Amino acid sequence: IDKNMNLVDEINRLKKEKNAIIMAHYYQVNQIQDIADFVGDSLALAQQSAKTDADIILLAGVLFMGETAKILSPDKKVLVPDLNAGCSLADSCPAPEFAEFIAKNPGHTVVTYVNTTAAVKALSDIVVTSTNAVHIINSIPEDQPIIFGPDRNLGNYLQSISGRKMVLWDGACHVHEKFSVEKIVDLKKEHQDALLLAHPECKKPLLVMADFIGSTAALLNYSKNSDKSKFIVATESGIIHQMQKASPDKAFIPAPPMDSTCGCNDCEFMKLNTLEKIYLALKNELPEINIEEELRLKAIKPINKMLEISA
Ligand code: 13P
Repeated sequence: IDKNMNLVDEINRLKKEKNAIIMAHYYQVNQIQDIADFVGDSLALAQQSAKTDADIILLAGVLFMGETAKILSPDKKVLVPDLNAGCSLADSCPAPEFAEFIAKNPGHTVVTYVNTTAAVKALSDIVVTSTNAVHIINSIPEDQPIIFGPDRNLGNYLQSISGRKMVLWDGACHVHEKFSVEKIVDLKKEHQDALLLAHPECKKPLLVMADFIGSTAALLNYSKNSDKSKFIVATESGIIHQMQKASPDKAFIPAPPMDSTCGCNDCEFMKLNTLEKIYLALKNELPEINIEEELRLKAIKPINKMLEISA
């Protein structure tokens, strides 16, 4: 890459030339959110990828998001900036083990969080995101037993909200698990006027302290509409960019992780994406996500079911 090149101009030129769209998750770095045509949570990214008329979708997020876009838009070229951008939740749930888990619990409706591989989606009856999970669980007949995976924290939260007992897979998001409850208690004492906003991937002791629990989009929306002006944000810190943009006069404090030496609450996989990699991906049309058609046809069913219910 030529050091004198203006990356933003070049990315915009390539986008126009190739009829490409950039979609970014809220956990991307600020510069990527700012050049994206669309920024959203997992549900909105899936909905948007299903209806875009672009020829190329560049998905700046983690791999399962690119896979979901390809499953929904098989005729489009789906690019990701870095194939190493995995997800600790998706990795915690390999399809062969999940298939055994399902076999051990016959007769259950298999509900999976969207943070999974296409192979796990193909084993599922319905997919959920944190925006629609409560609604979808409540739509399942009460006498129908449920398997939920892979996030045990979200699963526990859903059990407590819906009153349903579910068989849970034991996975977790490494970013949401590392927030320090003790440090958040201290922060709340220091900032008594601050509300604690938490993602349901956080552990229960943190969730019971939260003033509001929701997906990234729900947390953003809540902070926008609240008449309070200070928030402690217990999710990946990328979301604070949009919170601050929507409410320039409000203060947003990232929730501190247990390990103070890491000094951040970033997802290193999300943060693998850079403007340089986006430029190269658009220029070379690589790395590209491809999914075998037989697998895609199985994986699209539970995603479409989710999209119908969330519409
Ligand atoms: P949402 O953006 O749907 O809240 O999900 C967060 C997440 O886990 C992304 O990996």
